[in-house]
Formats: sequence, structure tokens, C-alpha cells
Amino acid sequence: MHTFSTLSFTPCKTLFQPMARFCCSMAVEEKGLVSYCTKVERNANLEKLQYNYLFPEISVRELRHIKKYPNAKVISLGIGDTTEPIPDIVALSMANYAKSLATPQGYKGYGAEQGNQELKKAIAETFYKDTGIKDSEVFVSDGSQCDISRLQMLFGSNVSIAVQDPSFPAYIDSSVIIGQTGDIEKESGRYQNIVYMECGPRNNFFPDLSKTARTDIIFFCSPNNPTGHASSRKQLEQLVEFAKRNGSIIVYDSAYAVYITDGPRSIYEIPGARKVAIEVSSFSKVAGFTGVRLGWTVVPEELVYSNGFPVINDFNRIVCTCFNGASNVAQAGGLACLSSDGFKAVRSNVDYYKENAEILVNTFTSLGLRVYGGTNAPYVWVHFPGSDSWDMFNEILEKTHIITVPGSGFGPEGREFIRVTAFGHRENILEASERLRSFLS
Ligand SMILES: Cc1ncc(COP(=O)(O)O)c(C=O)c1O
Repeated sequence: MHTFSTLSFTPCKTLFQPMARFCCSMAVEEKGLVSYCTKVERNANLEKLQYNYLFPEISVRELRHIKKYPNAKVISLGIGDTTEPIPDIVALSMANYAKSLATPQGYKGYGAEQGNQELKKAIAETFYKDTGIKDSEVFVSDGSQCDISRLQMLFGSNVSIAVQDPSFPAYIDSSVIIGQTGDIEKESGRYQNIVYMECGPRNNFFPDLSKTARTDIIFFCSPNNPTGHASSRKQLEQLVEFAKRNGSIIVYDSAYAVYITDGPRSIYEIPGARKVAIEVSSFSKVAGFTGVRLGWTVVPEELVYSNGFPVINDFNRIVCTCFNGASNVAQAGGLACLSSDGFKAVRSNVDYYKENAEILVNTFTSLGLRVYGGTNAPYVWVHFPGSDSWDMFNEILEKTHIITVPGSGFGPEGREFIRVTAFGHRENILEASERLRSFLS
């Protein structure tokens, strides 16, 4: 076995790229597993990805911290993962479905690639009432992140994209991987061929569309991860109008829509959106399904390419070829979530996280900091003017043993911010608030 330092034959050059120091490659390096390289070239698009995915990098730093302070009680307000148990009514429905699979009458194999018909109907009725969305336009998936990549496969490498800056990293990373971008520009931290739509306090977290270049695809997330900003009806009307004028397709990510108290929860509440928008969404933050894995994508029939061909037909093809349908156990759970008692139960968890968000907003506000989000979203976006977000991340971790997320991980516009998640047990949120008060006051 060779380690990197003793590697004595033709080196696998990509392993020496800077990002090899993180995560999986770190494990390979530490264990000294590189003893042989194939002749297969690494996908050049993957080589363009400058840093490893944000959350693995945070995990690496967390592990280092735990090593340094083995007795510290680390509280994570970092990755946006749900913490509260799935309601009984939902868990039982999955357990019962799984049990029935052990019987000759209850056994089921492959289902429809597009999802269980009853669930598609329940999704259309629960989330798209009065918007004209039909159950046949709903595709059930194993989560919206997976569908974002499937949509990229649908669009291919020749389209141009725009993203909010800051935004959920999957849009940009999947764009790089599919080959839509050039290299990253070191100075700006931005990839060539991506239009970054700056969204910050200056513009009420909505891009100045009069100065935004046309792209084929516009990724837009509301409530936004990480800023927590839920776009107003007026903002979304402008967005739909902009897409229509430019002949663009909006990929609207509504993964956190259930957290919205005031304002539109779906892009299809905006007239004309059916002609220009696809919506991806998820049970992850609605029902604590981050581990169960269930989501959906809506592709309206009216959405067509420049040659008039319906996008829904191609998406159906992608789903049939690259996916093959969501887990039937997870779909049974999804159906239970959307029953009247199930929805009450999952809503109560959402309300709990919203209370957590309020505690965090009050904590940072009382310390004189500018805080955004947290009312219509489970994320709180805290401004540290003049500071670098990775420095703030390190300092907060060092002094309070609290994991946050550095805003620059979501794009250059996040460089002075940290994101704090409201997903957490109440006692941890309260303790974190106390620690932050004593550190920051
Ligand atoms: C904006 C946004 N979209 C999509 C996802 C992925 O959700 P899923 O668990 O459905 O893949 C996340 C997860 O954090 C997210 O923040």
C-alpha cells in the first residue's frame, strides 16, 4: 500500500487537486489506500468544483473541534436537518405498509414511475388548490435535491442558468457537474456562464431584474435557503413576467413553503406561471422526511420548448429512465401526512420549529445584530458587517461550541452572514441562545 508521499508510479493527477484534502479523499489519504490508478480520466466537470460540498466541509471542521474539545457539548445549528419525531399516525402507516409487504395479498413490486395516483391527487389538492395544477402534472420523487439533478439532466449542458446569490448549493453544483459552466473565477468566487442574482438586505432579497441578463433557466427558491426570505406576491409576479418576456423556464424550489404564514406558497399562485415554471418540493421539511426521502416535482402541460414540444413529456422520460419511482413505503407515509389528522400532526412540528426560529431571531436581535428570515422560514440569516463568514463560523464554534453555517458557502453575497437553523430540540435552541448571548453581548 502506498500513501501519497510514497506514491512511486504514474500519479493519479486529480488526487493532487486542492479539494482532495477533504472528506472522502481525506479518508483515502489517511488510510493510505492509493495503490493503483485506473486509466479512466476524471470527469472534467467534477474537477471544476472548487470546494467540496459545503456540509461535508462543515462536518470535517466539527470533527476536528470534537477532537480538540472531547468534553464539549457541541450544539448543531448547522445543517438544516429536522430533529423532531415523525408523528405516530405517519410512522404507523409506513410500518403497516411495510408489514403488508410480507403477505401474499399485500406484496407490491414496482409502482408507477410517476408515483402513486392517490398521493399525486393528495399533493395536487393539498398544495395546489385553486392553481389549476392537475395530479397528472405531479411527479412523486425521492426528494427535491434528486429532482434538481434530474432536471439538469433534462436541460442538458447547453442551457444557461441564473441563481440567487446566496442560494442552496445544489443548483450551482449540479450545473457545474452537467457541464453548463466554465471554471470558477478565483477573485469573485463565481463560475463563468452562471448569472448570479444578488439578493440581500439592499434589495429586499429580490434581484434587480432590469439589470439581470437573460438565461434559459432561472433557479429560484422561496422561502430562500439560506436567507429565509419568502418572496412577496409582487416579487413573484415580476419574476414570472421576466421569465415570460425572456422565454425562460423558472425552476421554483418550494421546499420550505409550508413555513410561510403570509404570501404565496407556490409559484402557480401567480397568473401565467403554468407557462414558464416547474416547481420542485419535498416532504423533508414538511414532515421530517429527510431520512425517509419523498418529494415531488410539478411540470405543467402548458410548459413547452422553443419548438413547441411539451417539457412534461421529456421529464416523464427522464423519470422513467433514471428513477423508476419512489419507495412505496415512503409514499404510504406521504399519503398519511396529507390525511386530515396527519396534516394537523405534521403542522404541529412545523409550528414548533417556527417557535424555535422566533427564539433565535429574538436572541440575535437583542444583541443588536441585523437578522433576516425566521418568520416564514426555518432559517435565520445573521449579518456580521465587515466580518468574513468562515471566520465567524470558526469563532462561534471555538467560543460557544455551536455549529452554524458560513454564509459564503451559499455564494459570495453571503460572505458577511451566518445561517442558523431552527431545526433542533427546544432545550438545545434555548441553551444555544444563552451561549450566544454571553459570547456576543
Ligand atoms: C432549498 C432546498 N431545496 C431542496 C432541498 C433538498 O430537499 P430533499 O430532502 O427533498 O432532497 C433542500 C434541503 O435542505 C433545500 O434546502
